[in-house]
Amino acid sequence: MRDLMAKAEWVDGRVTAGAQSGQAKHNLQIPENSLEARALGDVILTALGRNELFTSASLALRVFPPLFNRYDGGMNFGSHIDNAIRFAKPMVGNGGAVRFRTDMSATLFLTDPAHYDGGELVIEDTYGEHRVKLPAGDMILYSATSRHHVTPVTRGSRWSSFFWIQSMVRDESARLTLFEMDKAIQGLRRQVGDTAEVVSLTGLYHNLVRRWADA
Ligand code: NI
Repeated sequence: MRDLMAKAEWVDGRVTAGAQSGQAKHNLQIPENSLEARALGDVILTALGRNELFTSASLALRVFPPLFNRYDGGMNFGSHIDNAIRFAKPMVGNGGAVRFRTDMSATLFLTDPAHYDGGELVIEDTYGEHRVKLPAGDMILYSATSRHHVTPVTRGSRWSSFFWIQSMVRDESARLTLFEMDKAIQGLRRQVGDTAEVVSLTGLYHNLVRRWADA
């Protein structure tokens, strides 16, 4: 993926930022409809489609086409909350843009953390700050309702992909309840197998999804 990114055109990251976040954003991006962005995005979307943890945590209805950015020396992204609604251009044809509600945000790290300093994703929630800097190939999925920033890169260059997910379950606490319940049921199932109680709990999980999801 980095080989393809090295060949891509890079533009000012403010092209996809809102009015407030545009003031805070200092980085570079690959244009969202470029061939490189589409090819790289397909790699990610295919991997996500196979990832049970992602499915369980996001209950994704739609995944926004992945975007790609880089922070070279001195670049950063000040504190902001991502836009609630985004427009994605269709993959083919000239039809109108599709509107997305951004329920969750994802950052996929694409540079070995030993190759740059700074560039931490800092997520600010009611319990304080969470500093995130993951190995290349690891992704963090977090609530799009949270305020966050990226600290200045002081050495090297930090490359990543970022995108949003519209969940079938809009309510964050309901989504989290379903995620915790799914994890508990999967763990129980590994321990005791498909007992009548496990089958019953699995059914209740699906009935809660039926109650809360818009598909
Ligand atoms: Ni953001």
